Amino acid sequence: MSRVSPPPLLHRANLGWRRRHAFGALGLRPALAQHSQAEAGLLQQHATGAGTIVEIGVAEGGSAFELRQVMDPDGTLVLIDPYVPGMLRINFSRLIARRTVDRCDRGRVEWIRATSRVAATGWRGAIDFLFIDGDHSEEGVREDWELWSPLVNVGGCVALHDARSAAGGWLGDRQWIDETAGPVVLAEAVRSDPAWSVAGEAETTVVFRRESA
Ligand SMILES: C[S@@+](CC[C@H](N)C(=O)[O-])C[C@H]1O[C@@H](n2cnc3c(N)ncnc32)[C@H](O)[C@@H]1O
Repeated sequence: MSRVSPPPLLHRANLGWRRRHAFGALGLRPALAQHSQAEAGLLQQHATGAGTIVEIGVAEGGSAFELRQVMDPDGTLVLIDPYVPGMLRINFSRLIARRTVDRCDRGRVEWIRATSRVAATGWRGAIDFLFIDGDHSEEGVREDWELWSPLVNVGGCVALHDARSAAGGWLGDRQWIDETAGPVVLAEAVRSDPAWSVAGEAETTVVFRRESA
């Protein structure tokens, strides 16, 4: 039986100065999820029951919490983010993420404080659901795809965030995802790869299912 204490998240909220990570770390606001509720629903739909889930780019733990809620209770959720130290060598975002993800006790969680490239060097094993939401540059997201997507089981899924041209996505301060954004360019290429099919789409998120090795 899972223990969950609501409400831990705000989806794409505009909080002005309260958006600062330090406020979240002090418990003065909930964790900020950098995706919408519709995208959360899509992620949960395709991650339900997944035994091994990997998330690249965790931030305050919004999507990680949602994935944990639906994962296989005997499974493992692997959370990868470098959490570069900030003021006083602290990363407030990491503190919020730890607290947010701990609000659910389903399955097992493994934190990897490293870039996805470094994490890939020590990785062994297959993946059932992969969420790529880290470095959004064209080179960064392509590298994540090349290093991590081959590890996804046939029948498993990869979700790409900010991979459809739409308003309201996240690319630093850019609020409009256009066709030149790294994840959009990658998603266009994957759409024509017969090894993958589109399992679902919501706002800026595309979920691909592996059809063959
Ligand atoms: C868009 S946020 C993730 C949002 C989160 N998935 C959510 O929906 O709430 C991007 C995160 O990716 C992390 N990141 C940036 N480059 C990365 C890399 N090379 N590997 C892993 N994470 C990275 C950043 O530190 C940041 O926390």
